[in-house]
Amino acid sequence: MDKFVIEGGRSLRGTVAVAGSKNAVLALIPATLLAPGIYRIRRTPNLRDVWTMSRLMSTLGAHIELDTSGELFVDTRTIERFEAPYEHVKKMRASIYVLGPLLARYGQARVSLPGGCAFGPRPVDLHLKGMEKLGADIGIEHGYINARAERLRGAAIHLDVPSVGATVNILYAASLAEGETIITNAAMEPEVTALARMLVAMGARIEGIGTSTLRIEGVPALQPVPTVENIPDRIEAATFLIAAAMTRGAIRLTDVNPYHLGAVLDKLEEIGCTLDVDGTTIQLRCDGELEPTNITTAPYPGFPTDVQAQWAALMLTADGSSRVTDTIYPTRFGYVPELRRLGAEIEVVDNTAIVTGNARLLGATVMSSDLRASASLVLAGLVADGRTDVLRIYHLDRGYERMEERLRRLGAQIERVPTDEF
Ligand code: UD1
Repeated sequence: MDKFVIEGGRSLRGTVAVAGSKNAVLALIPATLLAPGIYRIRRTPNLRDVWTMSRLMSTLGAHIELDTSGELFVDTRTIERFEAPYEHVKKMRASIYVLGPLLARYGQARVSLPGGCAFGPRPVDLHLKGMEKLGADIGIEHGYINARAERLRGAAIHLDVPSVGATVNILYAASLAEGETIITNAAMEPEVTALARMLVAMGARIEGIGTSTLRIEGVPALQPVPTVENIPDRIEAATFLIAAAMTRGAIRLTDVNPYHLGAVLDKLEEIGCTLDVDGTTIQLRCDGELEPTNITTAPYPGFPTDVQAQWAALMLTADGSSRVTDTIYPTRFGYVPELRRLGAEIEVVDNTAIVTGNARLLGATVMSSDLRASASLVLAGLVADGRTDVLRIYHLDRGYERMEERLRRLGAQIERVPTDEF
């Protein structure tokens, strides 16, 4: 078990290259189950969630290997099992992504039901309803989803909420279903678009990519594509920008897609940061007082729920109070009691954190409860007086590659230290 030890008070300055998107690659990897063959997925981040997905793919019979250049080799010619066991699903909910491909390509799938998670109940009812609409028989037994279908049939599917995961699973399945599927109120996140583009390259017929209505004309078979390019991680990019803003620094992000970050960039400008966007580069400079600014999370292109914890940390350094409201996960405030241990004044009322600015944070030992919560604690540690120890950073390692090395190169004083503390 590792922890981070941070000495706060340094401004971040310099250049950092954004890694490939975790959430996108987790959707791209299972797509390889739809057409047995050899794939190379470029720009795969070396993260715990990618290892978990790789282990799951191996248990299905795939050969999978990540090289040091970030290229993931996947061979799905040898799939012989159709089950996602609890040991993988409990570590990572995106394991449920193998449901749609296995069902569509092999007519069967057995996937452990994910339980709750650190930020509340996260049902998978829309995934299951989607598969049922496409003609699958779904049963739940002994904590597992059992799904079967001879050949799926296209259907009209309206999602009550624009779920990323349900859209992904339905896209896989509909690509090989017989006839037309129309998904309305589909998720429009860039990660969904990245998957749709990969499926099209494999021969899928999908219209409306990037919009909330996806029209899929099923085809009898898809073909493997030799190389697939992953997209940049917009959540990691936002985290670095916020880190620089908090420490009143100046950084340059490269290899980023600014179009994916519209809501976050607007808010950073609103609080008084200077931004310069050029192609795949974003420069941010921030000094002096920051305006307190409210945010409310919403499905893409709204402000991402995956950035609200980091935004709350940033608002501790603003000149006044602000409100951070999460409409996607109304109880995703596990980081608040930990930030309070550093001296933050934050009150949670319903799905809103009310953050008091001009905080004087003092280093302390704090504990991560989930991936983005741990990012907000690290950010707070960067501006706290003295030493902050952030425990349980395995959460952070799920989604940020070598975070401490990259922050150090920007001037932060942060070390990874093995520890018995839990
Ligand atoms: C994905 C992201 C996660 C992000 C979230 C919202 C991945 C691997 N994870 O998670 O980082 O925080 O999108 O942007 O890409 N819902 C239902 N029934 C369902 C499915 C979802 O009610 O069957 C609800 C959820 O409780 C939540 C909302 O829909 O309130 C959005 O969830 P969803 O978009 O599905 O999130 P994930 O795909 O799990």
